[in-house]
Amino acid sequence: MSKRILPLDSGDFEQVKEIIIKEWGSDYVIIHGDIIHPAELPGYKIMDDEKMVGLVTCLIKGQECEIVTLNSFREGEGIGDALIQVVESYALSHQCKTCKLVTTNDNLNALGFYQRRGFYISEVSPGAVDEARKVKISIPLAAENNIPIRDEITLIKQIG
Ligand SMILES: CC(C)(COP(=O)(O)OP(=O)(O)OC[C@H]1O[C@@H](n2cnc3c(N)ncnc32)[C@H](O)[C@@H]1OP(=O)(O)O)[C@@H](O)C(=O)NCCC(=O)NCCS
Repeated sequence: MSKRILPLDSGDFEQVKEIIIKEWGSDYVIIHGDIIHPAELPGYKIMDDEKMVGLVTCLIKGQECEIVTLNSFREGEGIGDALIQVVESYALSHQCKTCKLVTTNDNLNALGFYQRRGFYISEVSPGAVDEARKVKISIPLAAENNIPIRDEITLIKQIG
C-alpha cells in the first residue's frame, strides 16, 4: 500500500464537493456566520492507491491559514496527523504565522486531536451553531455522542 499526499486541483472539484456534502451536510459550511464552499478552496488529499483516505481544505487570510474542513476516512493510522502537517507546510510557504480552525463543542475527538498537536483554544462562541442552523437547517441538534451542538470553538497554533 502506498499513500500519497497531493494538492487538490480542478479535476478533484466534483469528488471533493460530494465528500463535503456527505461529511458536512451540504456543499457549504458556516464558520462565524460566513458561508464557505470548501470544494472551491485549496487543499490536499491523501490517496491510498485509488482511494481518497484523507481530505483537508484551507483558506489563507493575511498571515493566518484557516483549516476549513479536515477529514480522515481511516482513523488511527496517522492520516489526520499527515493532513495537519501538510497544511502547516503550505501555510509556512505562504508566510503565515498561525494556523487556525473552528470546531464545535460536541467534537471532543477533534478538540483532543488538535490540542495534542499544539493548537490551543483562543475563542468560544456560545450559540454560534444555533445561529448557523437558522441558515443551514441540516446541522443536527445533537451529535452521535448525544452532546447538543451549540457553540463554535476556535483553536489556533503558532507556526512561524
Ligand atoms: C479528528 C480526525 C481528523 C483525526 O484523524 P485520524 O486520521 O484518526 O488522526 P491520526 O490517525 O493522525 O491520529 C489519531 C490517533 O491515532 C493514533 N495513531 C496514528 N497512527 C497510528 C498507528 N499507526 N497506530 C496506532 N495509533 C496510531 C495517533 O497517535 C492519534 O492519537 P493522539 O491524538 O492521541 O496522538 C478524524 O477523527 C476525523 O476525520 N473526524 C471527523 C471530522 C472532524 O471532526 N474534523 C475535525 C474538525 S474540522
